Amino acid sequence: MNDPEPKNSGSNRRTFLSQTAGLAAIVAATGMTPAIAQAQSESSRRIWPDRFSFPPDFGWGAATAAYQVEGAASEDGRKPSVWDTFSRVPGHVKNGDTGDVACDHYHRFADDVKLMAELGVKHYRFSIAWPRVIPDGRGAVNEKGVDFYRRLTDTLLDHGITPHATLFHWDGPQALEDLYGSWRSREMAKDFAEYCSQTVKRLGDRITNWMTINEIYCFTYMGYGVDKTPPHAPGTIVKSRQEVLQTVHHALLAHGLGTLAIRAATPKPANVALVVNFDTYVPVLETPENIEATKRAFVAEEHNGTVLVPALTGAYNETAIETLGANAPKVEDGDMKIIGQPLDTLGYNNYTGSYVRAADNARGYEILPLPREYPQMHMPWLNFVPESLYWGVRMVSEALGKKDLPIVISENGCATDDEVTANGEVLDLSRIMYLRSYLKNAHRAVSEGYPLKGYFHWSFMDNFEWTWGYTRRFGITRVDYATQTRTPKESFRWYQKTIAENRLV
Ligand code: GCO
Repeated sequence: MNDPEPKNSGSNRRTFLSQTAGLAAIVAATGMTPAIAQAQSESSRRIWPDRFSFPPDFGWGAATAAYQVEGAASEDGRKPSVWDTFSRVPGHVKNGDTGDVACDHYHRFADDVKLMAELGVKHYRFSIAWPRVIPDGRGAVNEKGVDFYRRLTDTLLDHGITPHATLFHWDGPQALEDLYGSWRSREMAKDFAEYCSQTVKRLGDRITNWMTINEIYCFTYMGYGVDKTPPHAPGTIVKSRQEVLQTVHHALLAHGLGTLAIRAATPKPANVALVVNFDTYVPVLETPENIEATKRAFVAEEHNGTVLVPALTGAYNETAIETLGANAPKVEDGDMKIIGQPLDTLGYNNYTGSYVRAADNARGYEILPLPREYPQMHMPWLNFVPESLYWGVRMVSEALGKKDLPIVISENGCATDDEVTANGEVLDLSRIMYLRSYLKNAHRAVSEGYPLKGYFHWSFMDNFEWTWGYTRRFGITRVDYATQTRTPKESFRWYQKTIAENRLV
């Protein structure tokens, strides 16, 4: 299955032979050598259309998150989130940027949805801002805040686009930070579940795809640090690594209690997912030994062993816990059952990966360093490792035994150093190169029978890229922040055609 020959290559070859008369004309018109003209003509008909089609029900989508696009930070009753506070501290975010206005999506969502419809996506992943819905984190619901998501969802549904709502994409209410230090407290998990319940009660008639929490790793490991201020909100310096690991446990508990709350509150059958940016390991050569080594690394390396593994299996990975020693999270009776209850879908945020091979050491694997010149997109962490998409999906099946758990790529994309040409175009050809390569690996996963059901491009438009502010652009739509003009980039057109033809173009 690894590299299948197209099923009808024989008939295409015959077609090709019957058309060689046309080649002479191509050669005459283009000046190509007959051999090049022949190869190009053959490849355009024979390889691409057959090899990279997706199943008819594959879900094509695009993604954003509230704090990164909405703006309207203090409108209609919204109160500050930890990101509002964090981004105001000088030195935290490039150029002192904040999400106060961002893409002004709060006011421009109708036009944005129209553009999504033009793109052809059938699925849109966005997040709901907790401090818009329950501005103090607990207590009274702000109906005006809920109304924004009603308007947004109705507009999506009018355009035939299915809404997928993430309930927590890092913008926790500042009030709960002031009250008990956010994720440092178990209270956060209970308040999150209540917020889920109130939101789903109100919006569950029109949203049936829920994602509880986005990337636990980022707002725990990177939101709390031991010796110096970490790069994510709330940016708290704690006394020990154990305290950091405890925030991870509270976030997992919030996911579990949130899942129960969604299922109890929804008026319609709903699909519940967790979104994880788990670390992906790629066998440097696909030998049986290296694939075994990849499986071992996948479950035992700390970030997977403490987030993905407990969420999917109800137990922290033993090797990861042994390595943590006294820093391991403290678990109360019943927690792990709540954390590990079955999910409907796993959301996989895929950007990059690390190469692994078998090794004669206690763990049985080694993670290989990358050479200095290894290709990277416009972000220091974003190494170009397209096979990571395939191996991430495959490892959930093979290393965790979750063969039937539907997976969606809930984010994939890259930052590019875009320029606008004299005639107003953005020729982001490196993004097209990146997407084509990663999506070939999505195609490989699907064609080998792994349960990959859909793909959300990160992001629908340029937006507030956390500590990088507006200096890094992940969109397939350019946003001119001074005028709020949207300009579809070349990659937009590429994705549009890919969706329309349901195959890589
Ligand atoms: C993420 C975040 C996005 C980022 C993107 C690029 O989940 O990491 O969801 O908010 O913008 O990943 O860094």
